[in-house]
Amino acid sequence: MNRHTDMKQSALIVGLLAALAIVPGTPVGAVESAPASQAVPDVSRIAPTPPMGWNSWNHFAGRVTDADIRSAADFLVSTGMRDAGYVYVNIDDTWQGKRDASGVLHSNERFPDMQALSAYIHSKGLKFGIYSSPGARTCAGYEGSLGHEAEDARLYAAWGVDFLKYDLCSLREDMKKAKAEHPDDPDVTKNMMIAAYHKMGDALRATGHTIVYSLCQYGVDDPWKWGPSVGASMWRTTGDISDSYARMSKIGFNQAGLAAFAGAGHWNDPDMLEIGNGRMSADEYRTHMSLWALLAAPLLAGNDLSKMGAADRQILTNREAIAIDQDTLGKQGDRLYQDGDLDVWSRPLSGGRVAVGLFNRGESPRDVSIELAKVGFPGGARVRDVWKQKDLGRRSGSVTDTVPKHGVTLLIVGPQ
Ligand code: GAL
Repeated sequence: MNRHTDMKQSALIVGLLAALAIVPGTPVGAVESAPASQAVPDVSRIAPTPPMGWNSWNHFAGRVTDADIRSAADFLVSTGMRDAGYVYVNIDDTWQGKRDASGVLHSNERFPDMQALSAYIHSKGLKFGIYSSPGARTCAGYEGSLGHEAEDARLYAAWGVDFLKYDLCSLREDMKKAKAEHPDDPDVTKNMMIAAYHKMGDALRATGHTIVYSLCQYGVDDPWKWGPSVGASMWRTTGDISDSYARMSKIGFNQAGLAAFAGAGHWNDPDMLEIGNGRMSADEYRTHMSLWALLAAPLLAGNDLSKMGAADRQILTNREAIAIDQDTLGKQGDRLYQDGDLDVWSRPLSGGRVAVGLFNRGESPRDVSIELAKVGFPGGARVRDVWKQKDLGRRSGSVTDTVPKHGVTLLIVGPQ
C-alpha cells in the first residue's frame, strides 16, 4: 500500500469515526453509559415476548422477490401460522436499489413498490420487516445505511416498516481499518460498532413509529451486554445458522449461560429457524424448535411456506412449544446438566411451572431422566409431554423417556 492510499484511508477512517461520533480512545463506558439525552431507551413494550414471524434469507437468499414475500404472507395465513403467532414478514438482504441525488434509497426491480407490498402484508393482519447495514454495503453488496441513517429510518417509517434487522457487514472492514490506525486503543472497534448501532436506534425512535430493532453482528463483543442501551429488542448471539443438525445444535447448545441477559423486551437471538428446509430429520427439527423455545428465542421461520409439508407445519405450529417460547414470565432457560451426549435444559414458566428438555445428541436412542426435585418439585408434579401431546399424570421421583437419536422429549412440569 503506498503512502497516498494510506493517507486516503486515514482520512476515511477519521471521517467514519466522526460520522459515528466516536473519538479514538473513547473508553467503552463512554458509549455504554450514554449521556442523559440518550438515556437507555425503554423498548420493553415493543417486543414484550420474543418476536415471531418469517424471514426470506434461509430459503430464498439473494433471489427473493416481491411475489415471494406476498406468497409468504398468504401462506402464513392459510397454514395457520399467523394465528399461531408468526406475524412478522421480513425481507432480508438484496431488496435495495440505488440512492437518488437527494439521498433517498429506492428498492430494486424485484421490489417495484414497497408501499404496496407493505399495504398487502398489513391487509393480512401481518407486520412488515426489512433489512439494512450500518456499513456502506450490506453483506450481499447492496446499499447500506452508513451516513443515511435518519433518511433510511424515515423511509422505513413511511413504508410502514415494523421491524429492522441491522447487519454489521461492511462496517466490519471499516472497523479493521480503524484498529490498524489505532492499535493502542483496545476498544476502538467495539466503540465504533456500538455507536453505529446507537445511531440507527436513535433514528428509528425519532420516527415515532414502533419498530422492532434487531441487531445482527454475530455476537461480537457480547451484544447482550449493550444491546438494550442502543434500543435493540433482540441481538444475534452467533454466526449464521444453516440447515444442518451439526450447525444448529452447535449454536443452540452453545447458548448456555446467556439467560440472565434476556427478559421482556430484549432477547438473545441464536438466529432464524431452518425447520422445513429439508436437511434435518423431524427429530432434529423438534430439537431445533424445543431448544429455541427453551431459549426464549425469536421464532423466525425461514422455509418456503408454499411447499411446507404437514410434519414441518406441526413442528412450527405446536401451540405448547410456542407457549413455552412466548411465556410471559420472560425468563430464558439454561442447561441443567450434561452427561456426554445427554443434555438436559430447563426454563421457568409462569404459574410455577417449568419446561424441561431431555435431549439426546448421540447417534442411537437413549434413556434420559429428570429428577423432579432438580426442577423444584421434590414432592412430585404433574407432567405433560409437549410433542406427544400427552398428559403423563402426577409423577414423583424422576421421569425417564427413551429419546431418539438427535431427538428431544419436551416436558412441562407443574404443580397442578
Ligand atoms: C448475514 C446474516 C444473515 C443474512 C445475510 C444476508 O450476515 O447473518 O442472517 O442476513 O447476512 O446477506
